[in-house]
Amino acid sequence: MTNGIRIAPSILSADLTRLADQVKQVIAGGADWLHVDVMDGRFVPNLTFGASMIEALRRLTDKPLDVHLMVEEPERYIEPFAEAGASVFTFHPEATVHVQRQLAAVRSHGMLAGLALNPGSPLALAEEVVADLDLLLVMSVNPGFGGQTYLPAANEKIRRARELLAEHGSRAFLEVDGGITGHTIAAAHAAGADTFVAGNSIFTSSDPASEVQALRRRCLVTV
Ligand code: DX5
Ligand code: ZN
Repeated sequence: MTNGIRIAPSILSADLTRLADQVKQVIAGGADWLHVDVMDGRFVPNLTFGASMIEALRRLTDKPLDVHLMVEEPERYIEPFAEAGASVFTFHPEATVHVQRQLAAVRSHGMLAGLALNPGSPLALAEEVVADLDLLLVMSVNPGFGGQTYLPAANEKIRRARELLAEHGSRAFLEVDGGITGHTIAAAHAAGADTFVAGNSIFTSSDPASEVQALRRRCLVTV
């Protein structure tokens, strides 16, 4: 069982000189969540946004803000990001020592708790904490940059992730992030993903609103 389909445009690929417009466009196209990629230049070799971006987006929309932390010691940001208006707080298990403690802390700050797995990270890293998860994120590229190519091995991992959630009776969202386009989304959906991050494919399109709609429609194609 999946929980329906959510499209989460990644503002990493938006034109930041007209952020408000871009947000309006994707929401007009039916975007469910906005994905915010936070990078610290240590966990990944790139540096992006912090709490001020979350605050700015929160003033622009009441849609859920799906914050993906590619940072060391994500626990340092639980309180400030909750205050800034984050809805989902997803971090990588390799970035902190006490994963279960941090998942519980995220929930106690009123956010949904997510765990993200890099392409080389085993699903087993999520196994002991399934009950603590509101979202499991399967990375379909190595994180750090937008516009990379979807790694096809992600589909099999999504399938196993869906099984893991089902075995534990978990209702966590199963999200896929990286290289999602009109060509890759249907197979990811068929494998069991229900939440789709897309940056480049949406924001390099001349019509981001239509691209959001097109991605949603592509999920329903049989593969
Ligand atoms: C990659 C980020 C992604 C990125 C996806 O490190 O986690 O969220 O924005 O971008 P695309 O859809 O362009 O691969
Ligand atoms: Zn991301």
